[in-house]
Amino acid sequence: MHSSPPPLEARTESPGDGLASVHSVRLRVNGQDHEVEIPSWVTLLDLLRERLGLMGTKKGCDHGQCGACTVLADGQRINACLTLAVMQEGVDITTVEGLPALAGEGRASAGLHPLQQAFIDHDAFQCGYCTPGQLCSAVGLMNEGGAQTADDVRERMSGNLCRCGAYPQIVQAVARVAGIRVDAMRLSPPAPFAVQESQA
Ligand code: FES
Ligand code: FES
Repeated sequence: MHSSPPPLEARTESPGDGLASVHSVRLRVNGQDHEVEIPSWVTLLDLLRERLGLMGTKKGCDHGQCGACTVLADGQRINACLTLAVMQEGVDITTVEGLPALAGEGRASAGLHPLQQAFIDHDAFQCGYCTPGQLCSAVGLMNEGGAQTADDVRERMSGNLCRCGAYPQIVQAVARVAGIRVDAMRLSPPAPFAVQESQA
């Protein structure tokens, strides 16, 4: 006896040439509950951007190498491009749009999380493409605890790349909010090379 095929509305095309079933997923994003019907191969990043319209989370490499897509899952930082949305059933997701609410009453100024304000104060971005991931990663870093020095911040933020090279200011901003003293000398630009006299 043959089992009947799934209804057409329960099937959709996969990125390959096959068909994938659609799953119902419930997750909480920035304090709002969502229930979405999505194919199993949809990443959390694509769900956030394409289905929920939360374009703050950026797609850089889409391969887990740049950190632009970093979001918080139950307070832990993850690369949204590396996880399927169906794996996030019941998880509390926070994107850059949800950071001010995380700050809590009285800590957000002008609708910004303290880290967002610190990034502005320290010129910690240029194009800003990496910034949402940097911000979420920094919140995750502080949730993890244990960062005592600027070097700790550098090391623990190393999964977030900034092609504009705003790293010194990013470290300053994160360190300020995390209550870490930064050695000003370490953040100064390197001294220019001495010009050699011509031997000719
Ligand atoms: S877009 Fe996810 S790590 Fe680059
Ligand atoms: S500010 Fe442009 S990539 Fe970081």
